[in-house]
Amino acid sequence: MPRRYRCREPGTRRAGPQSRSASGAAAPGWDHHRVARIVFFEPRIPQNTGSAIRLAAVTGAELHLIEPLGFDLSEPKLRRAGLDYHDLAHVAVHANLAAAWAAMPAARVFAFTTRATRRFTDVAYRPDDLLLFGPEPTGLPPEVLADPRITDQLFIPMLAGRRSLNLANAAALAIYEAWRQADFAGAR
Ligand SMILES: C[S@@+](CC[C@H](N)C(=O)[O-])C[C@H]1O[C@@H](n2cnc3c(N)ncnc32)[C@H](O)[C@@H]1O
Repeated sequence: MPRRYRCREPGTRRAGPQSRSASGAAAPGWDHHRVARIVFFEPRIPQNTGSAIRLAAVTGAELHLIEPLGFDLSEPKLRRAGLDYHDLAHVAVHANLAAAWAAMPAARVFAFTTRATRRFTDVAYRPDDLLLFGPEPTGLPPEVLADPRITDQLFIPMLAGRRSLNLANAAALAIYEAWRQADFAGAR
């Protein structure tokens, strides 16, 4: 069962476990416009997750974190990176990837990896899609990339000889592409 947060103070004002699956419509109390869902697999650096919380708040994307995390959700560095946006973000924490799959059984899963051959701009995104990102610095491990739940692997173009984007930047590019395709629905 995922632990869901309306993150004013991560780890201190949790909404508590919810009973309904996060697939389909927004979860109970999560009546936001959803552009897509970001999934961070075992993130290590609190500032990146803090930035993603801010991204989730600004765009309406849900943020799903797969444990183990490399930090505590109440960590000051994470709170600083998310600034005062925690209140507006929808964040869920799952004990492992299998638990996340079980909570969102019907969703397509797009794994973001520098090793993919399909561009992230070549997908027509849907609000239920899960956009899966790997940990810093190693990326998604082979067993996750081979998971049968993965619909496809996607890459974000870079100049030759560059290793990768920062995790939070990669998530921002992906979510803004999904939102652009929806004509920035809900935005001012
Ligand atoms: C700091 S990167 C990890 C870098 C790792 N060496 C790799 O090649 O995947 C963290 C995550 O950001 C995402 N990412 C970064 N750059 C990307 C790119 N150009 N295309 C697709 N995903 C990218 C991936 O999900 C990656 O696992």
